[in-house]
Amino acid sequence: MSEIDSNGYEEIASIYIAGRGTRALVGDSVGAATVRAWAQAFPTGATVLDLGSGPGEPSTRILQEEGLATYAVEASAAMVAAFRKNFPDVPIEQNTVEASNFFDRTFDGVLAWGLLFLLKPAAQALVIEKVAGALNPGGRFLFTAPKEPLEWLDGMTDRPSQSLGAQTYEQLLRDAGLTWVSEAEDEGGNHYYVVEKRQPRRS
Ligand SMILES: C[S@@+](CC[C@H](N)C(=O)[O-])C[C@H]1O[C@@H](n2cnc3c(N)ncnc32)[C@H](O)[C@@H]1O
Repeated sequence: MSEIDSNGYEEIASIYIAGRGTRALVGDSVGAATVRAWAQAFPTGATVLDLGSGPGEPSTRILQEEGLATYAVEASAAMVAAFRKNFPDVPIEQNTVEASNFFDRTFDGVLAWGLLFLLKPAAQALVIEKVAGALNPGGRFLFTAPKEPLEWLDGMTDRPSQSLGAQTYEQLLRDAGLTWVSEAEDEGGNHYYVVEKRQPRRS
């Protein structure tokens, strides 16, 4: 099988897992409060897909603690191995989000924390379309990306990252049939977006 591209995270997985991926840090991790508040808006048992989950700490852990049925897609083999150790009963696919079929099912929520801007612009647009297709009506998508259009080198991998900026994201989301709900910054300065797949209007 050809190597699954994790945008450099396979190479630094052990460092990542020992840091942000450590269970003791979950409650204190940057973004944890935002993910928890988002998760708490779903009814118990709702289905949520964690894209680029890493080892599942903190996000999948929080989703599980909030009583959600979780699934994950993650490209790095080492991250997937750590995830399986942390969550032996949670389905995870080792694949890129670009290539994954998202378990051939739909979800009430999709989370992409720290992922989208690692991808090339065309891949970001593709993933937004795929997320829109994978959400149930009324479903919600939470993702992070800087508000301004921006290119930079990822602090951990030194690989290029690119935010398309809020305006372009809003356009892509609208084109995919998703509706902007809110945007804000977490305590670590991560800009995040919450969008919704609106229920079809009754005539
Ligand atoms: C910055 S980390 C964020 C991990 C986790 N969401 C968190 O909040 O800690 C990005 C993760 O996305 C994964 N990743 C990178 N490119 C990917 C791709 N194309 N498809 C799936 N996962 C990818 C990396 O292996 C890494 O685990």
